[in-house]
Amino acid sequence: MNILGKQKSKSHEEKKKVIIIDDEQYVREILHNYLTGKGWEVNCASNWEKGVELIKRHPDVDVVFLDLLLPGERGLALLRQIRSHFPNIMVVVIASHNDISTAVECMKEGAFDYLTKPFQLEKIPLLVERARELKELRIRESLLKKELEEKIEIQNRKIKDLFLGSLNALVRVLEAKDEYTVGHSRTVALLACEIAKVLGLGSTLRKKLLIAGHLHDIGKVGIRDDILRKPGPLTREEFEHIRRHPLISEEILSYVIKDNFILSSVRHHHERINGRGYPDGLKGDEIPLGAKILAVADAYEAMTSHRPYRKALPAEIALKEIEKNKGYHFDPEVVRAFLSVPLTKIYPKTEP
Ligand SMILES: [Fe+2]
Repeated sequence: MNILGKQKSKSHEEKKKVIIIDDEQYVREILHNYLTGKGWEVNCASNWEKGVELIKRHPDVDVVFLDLLLPGERGLALLRQIRSHFPNIMVVVIASHNDISTAVECMKEGAFDYLTKPFQLEKIPLLVERARELKELRIRESLLKKELEEKIEIQNRKIKDLFLGSLNALVRVLEAKDEYTVGHSRTVALLACEIAKVLGLGSTLRKKLLIAGHLHDIGKVGIRDDILRKPGPLTREEFEHIRRHPLISEEILSYVIKDNFILSSVRHHHERINGRGYPDGLKGDEIPLGAKILAVADAYEAMTSHRPYRKALPAEIALKEIEKNKGYHFDPEVVRAFLSVPLTKIYPKTEP
């Protein structure tokens, strides 16, 4: 018993199917008579075109016997066509005794075997038997491969769901601690993606920015409640304490996210173009693009939201404020992109 088990014995009960493509009538007749005498289904073609037609009509054929010296088109070209469009069909090339080198070339191109004229008919049943075994093996392999790919796809989907679930859990942790962040991260994320789209960033980077936007402030879970909820202005020490949140965000996320674009966007979302931001005081193009985008989206969303220490600003004032700080706080290119985003479409909260 071989590894094909029951499948092998079942398929071996089926009628063997053979196509012969040869321009010499006597070769076709001899093969046809011999093989039909064994109860096989045999179809014959005398040239390239008829051969292709036959194969299209009988794609389940086991073996094609192919004459290398077909008129018009060479047999080798037809072999390539069969291998390319019908990879499970086994091809046995028929070569003349002085054309062995082409036959060998055919083997390299994927022919199952070759015969040289004149050949012994008695060899053919064993040849076809071997070809059928290989064909069954290939079919089984491709089924196993497909099955495996489907399993991997399901696993990948589960891993992705778990990953996104864990990110949502992190957002919820922060929202439970600070009511003012409810919805803030989501809006920043969506707005950042719209800015990125105007800047021409591809979908992969936009997806990363979406994640960074949702999680940029997660480090606030490490900030004292009395500071986070303080209704009045912060003291110098309190401000120093709150300035740690991008670093804490980066550290928390680094346990589940290994992507540098996301981590650097989160770490540097409070940097300023003039170098007076935090945590690293980066200037201009030292600041990663993702962080520059988040900075604008974050500032606009924060200004148009209520805070313990002030009321929300109207959208038009917030927009003017962003533009005013172009080149000082914010990157001019990012501000230009931001100002061309249709805010009412993606951000309906335009009234305080
Ligand atoms: Fe922040």
